[in-house]
Amino acid sequence: MGKNIAETQQIFLFCDGGSCQKAGSEEVVRNVRAYLRNSGQWDSTHTIKTRCNGRCEDAPTCIVQPNYWYKDLTPQKGLEIIKSHLEHQKPVEDYLLYQDEWSEIKSEKERGAFTPKPFSIKMDSELGECRITKGFASDQYTYPLFLYLSENSPYSTLSLANRTSFSFSEIKNVNYSQKYTLELELAEETIELIIAPIDQKNQDLVKKRIAVVEYFEQLDSLKKGIRLKNKFGEELGLIWLENHAWQYCLEVQLKGIKLETV
Ligand code: FES
Repeated sequence: MGKNIAETQQIFLFCDGGSCQKAGSEEVVRNVRAYLRNSGQWDSTHTIKTRCNGRCEDAPTCIVQPNYWYKDLTPQKGLEIIKSHLEHQKPVEDYLLYQDEWSEIKSEKERGAFTPKPFSIKMDSELGECRITKGFASDQYTYPLFLYLSENSPYSTLSLANRTSFSFSEIKNVNYSQKYTLELELAEETIELIIAPIDQKNQDLVKKRIAVVEYFEQLDSLKKGIRLKNKFGEELGLIWLENHAWQYCLEVQLKGIKLETV
């Protein structure tokens, strides 16, 4: 039988994402759960393992309702935190990363936000002279990109290696339910793009994975587009963009960088 949520008075969310696991999250959770079992608080307390909480630099992390964020957990800190909330209804301030009404988070390991480099002018062997910069290649960007183009930009086109180009209006559905494969459903076929981390030993997949996303504007034609490459620099596809889709790319995919060049 699952947890009786009606009897639960406090919930603790322990991150079980990859960075937190590497930093020892499992031992933290095991200790906390053992304490709850032996102290008779198992039924009234719920501990949940979550996927990444988005603060990997502070791993292992946990969140306590209503909005206490903890960092750099150890088994000992985990116990102190849980006891403080359950027995005294208050947080352990020294271990907090953030709580409501703080104006900023307290992290000794804060990483600066990554922003794309400004456009630079290059003579490219395939594109000619152009302004060009790299965007983000993670699936957290590429999936929204394909979704946006299929929903909003029917005249943008995509050409893939060894295939004739087609417009985004021909895409009936963009499906991202597989582990690392984005599926573009056309009337007669489904095209698969590899957009998320894959087993690096599988050379076939490594060659197909979109690892580099370049945004460019040709200087002579003023045509704008996106070039998709694998990690070896081999071209996987080329997207030619309508103007409003280019604006979307500057604002969302490139986080508002200007078209100026350096
Ligand atoms: S894996 Fe835990 S915060 Fe990212």
